[in-house]
Amino acid sequence: MIDKRAGALPVEGVPAERVLDEIRELRGLDRPTHGGRLFAYVYDPGVAGLDELAHAAHAESAHVNGLDPTAFPSLLAMENALVGAAARLLGGGPGTSAPDVVGSVTGGGTESLILAVKTARDARPEVAEPRIVVPVSGHAAFAKAAHYLRVALDPVPVDPVTLRPAVADVAAAIRPETVLVACSAPSYAHGVVDPVAEIAAVAAAAGVRCHVDACFGGWTLPWLRRLGAPVPPFDFAVDGVTSISVDLHKYAYAPKGVSVLLHRDPGLRAPQYFAYADWPGYTMVNPVIASTRSGGPIAAAYATLRHLGEDGYLRLAALTRDAVAGLADAVRGVDGLRLMAEPESSVVCFTSTDPGLDLFVLVDELTARGWHTQPQLAYADLPASVHLTVTAAVAPRVAEFGPDLADAVAAARAAGPVQLPPELLALAGSLTPEALTPELITGLAAGLGLGAAPAGWGNPAPGSARAGAPVPDRMAVVNTLLDAVPVRLRERLLVEFVGLLQNPTY
Ligand SMILES: Cc1ncc(COP(=O)(O)O)c(C=O)c1O
Repeated sequence: MIDKRAGALPVEGVPAERVLDEIRELRGLDRPTHGGRLFAYVYDPGVAGLDELAHAAHAESAHVNGLDPTAFPSLLAMENALVGAAARLLGGGPGTSAPDVVGSVTGGGTESLILAVKTARDARPEVAEPRIVVPVSGHAAFAKAAHYLRVALDPVPVDPVTLRPAVADVAAAIRPETVLVACSAPSYAHGVVDPVAEIAAVAAAAGVRCHVDACFGGWTLPWLRRLGAPVPPFDFAVDGVTSISVDLHKYAYAPKGVSVLLHRDPGLRAPQYFAYADWPGYTMVNPVIASTRSGGPIAAAYATLRHLGEDGYLRLAALTRDAVAGLADAVRGVDGLRLMAEPESSVVCFTSTDPGLDLFVLVDELTARGWHTQPQLAYADLPASVHLTVTAAVAPRVAEFGPDLADAVAAARAAGPVQLPPELLALAGSLTPEALTPELITGLAAGLGLGAAPAGWGNPAPGSARAGAPVPDRMAVVNTLLDAVPVRLRERLLVEFVGLLQNPTY
């Protein structure tokens, strides 16, 4: 048993095998990244040998630095190959209506979106107080970009039935200071594709850039379309779409740390770059936020795309499509559950129509049965829901899901909805973000079983697979509390709770 409280730097070095054992033991605390039972955070194609290939490619280029493409042309070649593949898949490149598409490899979807916003902002230096228009179903990374870049966010509501924004609302939100209109293909939360063509048209009519966030689905929708699914136009084939982001570490099944940001032409991309020569060190030019960048994720993504090829991705998309259909059927078969939307990509999202069936309790019951789903809190007119990101590795597991779902629903009904202790509810009701004190936070966290120092690592039951993890096995009470409080208080509590978890081990 390793001492998980020890710092990372011992006085005397530890032999390699023991270090790896420590990591493997820590990894035992995690949700299972492979095996098709985790419906968020990881993207598993279930292809034998792919991990080994990606790891070998990663190791080959891990020490290469993307800071200087003249020193490491291998990385430049692989980046250009990734950008070209993404552009071609998304309606750009030779022979298309967008022959001049260019792009960059970033470290992830959030970085791509921050850069899309920065590029749009910096293309309009005359706008003193720039703004962006984003449907509320757009990824939270747009809000992060707005926050980091001091750009105002104009959210557009979504229809509670279609889960899409009304084009008229998007048009009405555009102002003279608007530098970017965003939409999703598809949205993460519900997996629905926004009316991209119509949104891009209103943006173009106003002379404003339009970014399509295809981080999640940009590597799935084109294959689904080729398989016959009715995927609406969402890429560079649509006039008015000026940039698109697509994450290779999602449905391209590359290891984490790779996304692609594409622009329709080099002129649109130009404000993305940062160059600085006004210091005595090396002249710096960065296309993306990071300066030093490991070649590892880029080489691993290159190897993954080369190895799977178009036929591989088509096969994986077919498996994903069938898994989505099977899971959606399982949900339809349970009284008291309702699909938030008919699946049109790789997401199954459902809600409860029965007040006696608490979704947060259901999520815990599914976890207890080895299915790791993602709870989504109620928001505006939208009820709380359960999100499943479906990947190809889920396909062989689908038949097991239905009976477990029915069983988990029965258990959740029997347990009944979470009843927060009245004093906790009263406290939550009276709290404001400003009124939170460290003592209140610690008390609240301890009451919820979060972080719970001094034991610290011992919240889940001693026998549980995750014994030693710093969060409880059952999260329904935490989710119920967060669900019960206003958005700003949710945010503050999340920050404080995660802050409690992030304690150095000395
Ligand atoms: C639609 C969409 N955009 C952006 C992101 C952010 O990506 P990342 O987590 O790689 O930063 C995600 C992540 O799930 C997403 O689904």
